[in-house]
Amino acid sequence: MKEKTTQTLGALGVRSAEQLAPLIAGLREEFERDTTTARDDVSWKAFRDAWLGRKSGVLAAITENWLKAAPTPDLKRAAGQALNELRAQVEAAIEERRRAIEAGAEEASLASERVDLTLPGVMRPVGSRHPIRQTFDDIERIFLSMGYQVVSGPEIETPYYNFEALNIPEHHPARDNMDTFYMETPPGAETRLLRTHTSPMQIRTMEKQKPPVRIIVPGKVYRRDNPDATHSFAFHQIEGLAVDVDLTFCDFAGTIDYFIRQFFGPGTKSRFRPSYFPFTEPSVEFDASCIFCGGSGVTGAGLTCSKCKGSGWIELFGAGMVNPAVYHFVKYDAAKLNGFAFGLGVDRLTMLKYGIDDMQVFFQNDVRFLRQFS
Ligand code: PHE
Repeated sequence: MKEKTTQTLGALGVRSAEQLAPLIAGLREEFERDTTTARDDVSWKAFRDAWLGRKSGVLAAITENWLKAAPTPDLKRAAGQALNELRAQVEAAIEERRRAIEAGAEEASLASERVDLTLPGVMRPVGSRHPIRQTFDDIERIFLSMGYQVVSGPEIETPYYNFEALNIPEHHPARDNMDTFYMETPPGAETRLLRTHTSPMQIRTMEKQKPPVRIIVPGKVYRRDNPDATHSFAFHQIEGLAVDVDLTFCDFAGTIDYFIRQFFGPGTKSRFRPSYFPFTEPSVEFDASCIFCGGSGVTGAGLTCSKCKGSGWIELFGAGMVNPAVYHFVKYDAAKLNGFAFGLGVDRLTMLKYGIDDMQVFFQNDVRFLRQFS
């Protein structure tokens, strides 16, 4: 139908408004069809120019060939009216397409730029403190609150600090249960060993520091033990040492009792039994009332408590009043000073506190175990 607009109405044989009407209707249909070709910027421009172009557009051709060249005034009026209506339809539809294409482009760019916030994030597992570390921290906090200082020292020691200065001479039977690992040293060099306890730090501290002394020493210690549920070749201790002019056994027992109640809970009782260490005199073993059966020796079900074997007490650690013989090694005045010392087994205390029955789990680094202590 578009081609017909290149001819005049006269040439087309159109004489009346009635004859013009089907031509206009055909053009409208064609225009509707054309509309669908305008899909993007480029095709829309071609579509617009085909209909509205100043020189070659369909509407320009109608103006030129049908309107201006109308053979009669009646036909001219009819052509003018039809042209106006067509123009209104064409302009509105072309504008409508433009908007639709623009909106579509926006939608497409939005779609391509979309950030999918529903994707799961990158999981960063949160670690937790090792139960041994937590016990170290708990014990340190309790003694810091009593005015103790935290110090640390070497794990590779000399026999002097690990044994002799602690009043354990060579060939003394007390060395038997402290068999340890010796370094390979060049001939003639001083013997080095892995410390069997944190007690060497008693000596190193007193050598450097004048009394009064109140220290705790958290650290790793080593013994030539075969691993089982309660033994390991490496384990953890916290040494304690208090030396002053007027310390008594009462201060000692009171300090330990306070610690035990702070660590296990206010209802826990403490007691001590005689023991032996060359560097303390008298020496004791401290026990706590059994935290599993409440000290009764019997479980809720009426059975003998397996943890304390019915005794109601659990062995905790060795301790004692500092043996005056030790003061001589560090040139302290044994006649004026009193003190007490203790050696807490951190692994054992942790096992008791959390009800763990195999020490090896501390060293296996199984996250299923470690996660329970976050
Ligand atoms: N060092 C001793 C041990 O490891 C424990 C202890 C420390 C005993 C301090 C008395 C005083 O067995």
